[in-house]
Amino acid sequence: MKTFKVAALPGDGIGPEVTNEALRVLDAVASGTDVRFATTHYPHGANHYLATGETFPPEMIEEMRGYDAILLGAIGDPRIPVGMLERAIIGGIRFQLDLYINLRPIKLFDASLCPLKEKGPADVDMVIVRENTEDLYTGMGGFFKKGTPDEIAVQEMILTRKGADRLFRFGFDLAMKRGKQLTMVDKANAVAAFDLWTRAFEEIGEGEYPEIKRDHAYIDAACMWMVKNPEWFDTVVTSNVFGDIITDLGAMIQGGMGLAASGNIHPGQVSMFEPIHGSAPKYTGQNVANPLAAILSVQMMLDFLGEERSAKAVEAAVQGALQEKEIPSASAKNGLTTEQMGEIIARRVKDQLQEVGVR
Ligand code: IPM
Ligand code: MG
Repeated sequence: MKTFKVAALPGDGIGPEVTNEALRVLDAVASGTDVRFATTHYPHGANHYLATGETFPPEMIEEMRGYDAILLGAIGDPRIPVGMLERAIIGGIRFQLDLYINLRPIKLFDASLCPLKEKGPADVDMVIVRENTEDLYTGMGGFFKKGTPDEIAVQEMILTRKGADRLFRFGFDLAMKRGKQLTMVDKANAVAAFDLWTRAFEEIGEGEYPEIKRDHAYIDAACMWMVKNPEWFDTVVTSNVFGDIITDLGAMIQGGMGLAASGNIHPGQVSMFEPIHGSAPKYTGQNVANPLAAILSVQMMLDFLGEERSAKAVEAAVQGALQEKEIPSASAKNGLTTEQMGEIIARRVKDQLQEVGVR
């Protein structure tokens, strides 16, 4: 019997609803295997902040280091100044735990989910490897003469050689397992700092991964090709901001935000898994939000923890439910409640695990 320690941070809005279903699926995994999950819930988010004034203090970051993985629901609330909780909690965890990879698979499970004409599952199957600790997100910069007509706002875009090297090595390693092709997406034609990336990509690719085909696209063109020819992409490395943007686009071509999962990863250390969608205040408390993105984040967590068979069972359960139209779409208006969708996947996970047999 193996037990993993998991910190659950359901957060705001629909976060708690989708996290409940993600944990239901984790229970289903435990019931069908000899793996157990010791889950501790944390209340951090808008209500906790309004009640206590606390966002996510340094002691909490230290406490997180004691877990095998963190499962986050969603952060953000209209009652709180824009971005404050997101920066403190999501940003705080990403930066302070140095989770330098933001892994975001874009996989179309059924052609009916894709808004692109004549594209199917064979065309939309890629992984975006988003840099997660640099770029415009570091908070370096500030305001001068704030509130006056002469105000200046500066936010620095940080790229480091260390950050580029570890991102690219992760990308090349992943490309070795996937399609032997790695595409770097940047904006080197307009932003000179990306020259650092151009050189690092070339040196690491040429020197350490000669068998991987190196491809390149500027972010604007990449957005165009992702819609026109998504089959051209397999493994993609990109910067923090571009990765943020292009993965929302990716979510749409895989069927919607209700299906897009992510892992904030530092290989070998505690890492955080979360749906890429936000707290969706308009759906909060209605039991309609689609929990599949949170459930697929559990799949990524299982994979990260080395529980590959359980991870495959979760993916097969989601794929089956979508292909057989038991869950007809990722939309919040697909006629099913959040709980019903969670129950469907949990049942299918148990079936899957029975089929492949307990190890
Ligand atoms: C994401 C989100 C976050 C980001 C926000 C909530 C800070 O959009 O995970 O994609 O920009 O990284
Ligand atoms: Mg985003």
